[in-house]
Amino acid sequence: MAQIKRRKVPFILLAVFVLSAVLVGGYYSQQSANAAVDQPVDYSHKVHIDAGMECLYCHSSATRSPVAGVPSVQKCMGCHETIATDNEDVMVVIDYWNRQEPIPWERVNKEPDFVYFSHQPHMLSGLSCENCHGEVGEMDLAEPVVDMHMGWCLDCHEQQHEDIAPHLWECLVCHQ
Ligand code: HEC
Ligand code: HEC
Ligand code: HEC
Ligand code: HEC
Ligand code: HEC
Repeated sequence: MAQIKRRKVPFILLAVFVLSAVLVGGYYSQQSANAAVDQPVDYSHKVHIDAGMECLYCHSSATRSPVAGVPSVQKCMGCHETIATDNEDVMVVIDYWNRQEPIPWERVNKEPDFVYFSHQPHMLSGLSCENCHGEVGEMDLAEPVVDMHMGWCLDCHEQQHEDIAPHLWECLVCHQ
């Protein structure tokens, strides 16, 4: 009995918290789903992938942390100190570098704060970026390709091996 009660209390608190967060946040997140985002630099994924770069070259945190991360201006300058320095979009990057300011990239894919997502377990299980983000290598600025709602997460979790699928459906896996 005592054990059941201890488990129920955080669950109810969670449900109340999640519902109130949704009332406030739901409207905004729906507005932004599948809309292209304006960015401070006209950066093209396609140009860089066609030049032979791999996703993890710039998003190396994906295999070892929750976030994939976006590269620093210093990383860009490793090449753009000498490559395409007369391109006007590259000049914008060089201006950020000279001012020692980070490029304020807008987030494209964003879950509400009450959702826990981590890239690491997904990458370690052998998924590729394209499974969730689509053909980013064909895009200029990254665009959202799927609406990353709860049903989308659960659909894929349901398809995992029967040893792990029930665990991957537990509320506290994604709402910690
Ligand atoms: C040369 C560096 C570089 C490489 C290589 C690169 N990216 Fe990116 N990526 C960026 C930058 C800069 C941004 C921020 C601008 C934007 O959103 O387009 C970004 C943004 C993204 C975003 C959107 C992030 C968000 O806010 O949700 C995704 C998804 C993404 N990249 C996936 C990929 C995939 C998949 C590959 C491989 C096919 C890849 N990237 C290769 C630099 C890179
Ligand atoms: C299982 C699905 C899945 C896979 C696989 C995946 N992502 Fe993501 N990605 C997401 C979700 C969901 C978000 C939003 C997370 C949030 O807001 O907490 C995201 C956010 C991002 C972001 C912006 C926030 C951050 O983490 O820096 C980048 C950049 C990104 N992904 C790049 C990549 C790249 C590159 C790969 C492959 C190396 C990849 N993703 C693989 C689902 C995925
Ligand atoms: C490994 C080398 C390398 C890195 C690192 C790199 N680039 Fe590039 N970039 C290139 C090459 C090669 C081109 C194509 C040049 C050409 O067509 O003359 C290019 C082209 C560009 C262009 C002009 C074409 C376009 O519209 O995309 C921009 C803007 C640009 N890069 C921004 C960035 C930013 C921002 C970063 C850091 C997030 C970055 N680059 C990192 C090699 C690199
Ligand atoms: C394309 C398939 C796919 C999608 C989409 C997906 N996942 Fe997963 N998820 C997995 C796989 C595979 C694992 C690793 C299972 C294992 O450890 O064997 C996993 C594991 C996790 C874990 C770690 C669980 C643990 O206890 O180790 C979390 C947290 C998670 N997913 C959250 C999410 C969230 C949140 C979303 C939606 C925003 C999502 N996932 C979308 C396939 C997916
Ligand atoms: C695999 C990850 C995952 C699991 C497991 C999960 N959720 Fe979610 N949940 C999400 C994501 C992502 C969102 C935000 C996007 C959305 O609103 O669909 C969300 C949103 C919600 C919302 C906001 C309402 C809505 O649909 O927008 C509620 C309430 C919620 N979850 C409750 C639960 C409960 C209760 C459980 C357990 C039965 C659960 N979730 C299990 C990922 C998950």
